[in-house]
Amino acid sequence: MNVEKATNNIQTDRRQLLTALSDGEKNEIDLLLQHYPRASGATIDALKIVQQYQGWVSDMAIAALAQYMRVPLAELDSVATFYNLIFRRPVGATLIHPCNGISCQLLGCKKIQRQLETQLQISDGGTTTDGQITLLSLPCLGACDKAPVLLLRKSLRVESTGPMHCSDQLLENLNTRKIELVINKLWGRRYERARS
Ligand code: FES
Repeated sequence: MNVEKATNNIQTDRRQLLTALSDGEKNEIDLLLQHYPRASGATIDALKIVQQYQGWVSDMAIAALAQYMRVPLAELDSVATFYNLIFRRPVGATLIHPCNGISCQLLGCKKIQRQLETQLQISDGGTTTDGQITLLSLPCLGACDKAPVLLLRKSLRVESTGPMHCSDQLLENLNTRKIELVINKLWGRRYERARS
């Protein structure tokens, strides 16, 4: 995040900052803080709470969270930037995380990655033009005996102001044919259009 920009946001729009976190988020953060002697120990989990409610973590949300938790903005920003599962821009309701760890590399994950990028017409870290699917490779997913693998995560918002519910599915022993079927199922008609 641009810390200077966030700081300016604090100065220029305090009202927006006050409403950047919902009551549900604040309640969950309060509960979380009870388990830590120092607020700085709870930063990753607090960022995850914000992401669970908002889908991603904006500069404004970081600034509001820093103020709410009374931790330095720069500290929170560096944690959010370091942790690759905290999203700093909007992502799709479906996240595809192909593994790029060494076992998966030895068993062809580059081909899998290429096929995903071609079918979805995005590069790693990108989101499809309809905003539905984000592709983001990750290091070892802990299932090396089933390589190559990918993690498919779908988020669903049940209540308009509540947290999102996520379902995770690990797809194992992948090959390009399996990937084609997966993407057809997820994104079928759009993929067919893109092909023609
Ligand atoms: S390297 Fe891919 S699961 Fe371990």
